[in-house]
This record gives sequence, C-alpha cells and structure tokens, in this order.
Amino acid sequence: MRIGILGSGLMGGKLGTLFARAGHQVVFSYSHDPKKLERLARKVGPKAQAGTPAEAARGADAVLLAVHWSRVDDVLAQAGQLSGKPMLSCTLPMSKDDSHMVAGLTTSAAETLAAKRPKAHVISAFSTAPSEVLFNVFAARRKKTRPDLVFCGGSDKAKKTAARLIRDIGFNPVDVGALSIARYIEPFSLLAAEIAYEGKGGPQLTYRFELLKTSR
Ligand SMILES: NC(=O)c1ccc[n+]([C@@H]2O[C@H](COP(=O)([O-])OP(=O)(O)OC[C@H]3O[C@@H](n4cnc5c(N)ncnc54)[C@H](OP(=O)(O)O)[C@@H]3O)[C@@H](O)[C@H]2O)c1
Repeated sequence: MRIGILGSGLMGGKLGTLFARAGHQVVFSYSHDPKKLERLARKVGPKAQAGTPAEAARGADAVLLAVHWSRVDDVLAQAGQLSGKPMLSCTLPMSKDDSHMVAGLTTSAAETLAAKRPKAHVISAFSTAPSEVLFNVFAARRKKTRPDLVFCGGSDKAKKTAARLIRDIGFNPVDVGALSIARYIEPFSLLAAEIAYEGKGGPQLTYRFELLKTSR
C-alpha cells in the first residue's frame, strides 16, 4: 500500500519507518524543517520519500495522522479532503500545553476528526502504544504471541486496511467496535503514557500489560 504520513515526529516517523520495512511505500510529511523529512526518508530507503501533506495524501491508500491536537486543523487544511480514504489517527485530544484533555466522556478526538473530514474513514489506532515500544514489537513479530492493539472505526473496508497495517508492524489487531469507542481508548492511552513517562517502569511497562494479556 501507499501510506501518507501526516506528522513525522516520534509516532509518525517510527510508524512510517515500520510500514516501509513491512513493504509499504510511505511519504513522510509535516515538519518545521523539510530537510528533516528528506533525511528521514533517505534513512528509511527506497520505500520512503518526503513530501508535503498534499503529496502524502494524493494517491494514498491510507493516511496516518500523528500530530499534536493543536496542529490538526493546519495539517488537514494542507492535506485536503481525504475523501474515501482510511485516516488512521493516534492523535490524542490534549490542550496546547499538554495539561489536560480537551475532548472526552461525550466525544473523542477521533469523532471530532470524523466531523472535520466526514468523507474520510477515520480509524482510531496506535495511540495506546508509546512510540518507544514500536521497534521492539516489530523485531519480535515472528514470535508466537503478539501484543494486542485495539482499534475502532465506522467503515469495515477501512478497518481491514487498518488491521493489515497493525499486523504488518507486529501487533495483533483487536477491533473493539464503532468510532465512539475512542472515547474510552483515548483516556486509556493517556494512562499508558502517564505510566510510561511518569512511572518507574518506563514505556516497557505498558508493553508488558499487552504481553500479560496475550500470554495467558
Ligand atoms: N509519542 C508517543 O509515544 C505517543 C503515543 C501515543 C499517542 N501519541 C499522540 O500522537 C500525536 C503525535 O505525537 P508525537 O509524539 O509523534 O509528536 P511529535 O514527535 O511532536 O511529532 C509531531 C510532528 O508534527 C510536526 N509539527 C508540529 N508543529 C508543526 C508546525 N507548526 N509546522 C509543521 N510541522 C509541525 C513535527 O515537526 P518537527 O519534528 O519538525 O517539530 C512532527 O513531525 C499526538 O497527538 C500524541 O498525543 C503520541
């Protein structure tokens, strides 16, 4: 598949790299510094290139949205309509200074995105995994048990694409239902992040939750 990466930082950079290692063609976009995108693409190899958000979206089979919530409107405006495309989002609804959630209980970042781009097929995925565990999960993908990764969304076709990408980078995809389930996934993701970055165990602790669940 051809995957457009909208936001090429910790999550977008790593997920895009792994999609490319799994055989997909990726276009890295959205950075303060276009040279950084070119360096990233060069490092990944012939399966990757750097571009603008519009170039990343054009002809993509799916896009990954991986920007801070405060940058969503800007990157979407640059990417265009995304009609009919699966838009996988790990973006969490945080205030500009990351001090509190700005959506929750009655809605979620994923549902807010779907309202902003009604013709795209939004899938909430990847937010539960701290970026630090992604390469280790990929490296261990041939082992018998894989960590689960929950995702949700409204389009069955887009969910198939999401499940394939989730599997390709080493997780076991777990479809937990409609896009509204993101209301519960997003606060869980923030708990995972809190444990990963503030707790004693670091990002690997979050990964261990998943291992315990699948090795029962
Ligand atoms: N990091 C994690 O482990 C993790 C886990 C789960 C969910 N999430 C969520 O995933 C989303 C992305 O997180 P992240 O950690 O990947 O963020 P990040 O490392 O800060 O990456 C954000 C990307 O957006 C770009 N960007 C920011 N402001 C910009 C601007 N004004 N103009 C152009 N480009 C701009 C950054 O470019 P530069 O690199 O040039 O600054 C970078 O490519 C967030 O919503 C976060 O809550 C993150």
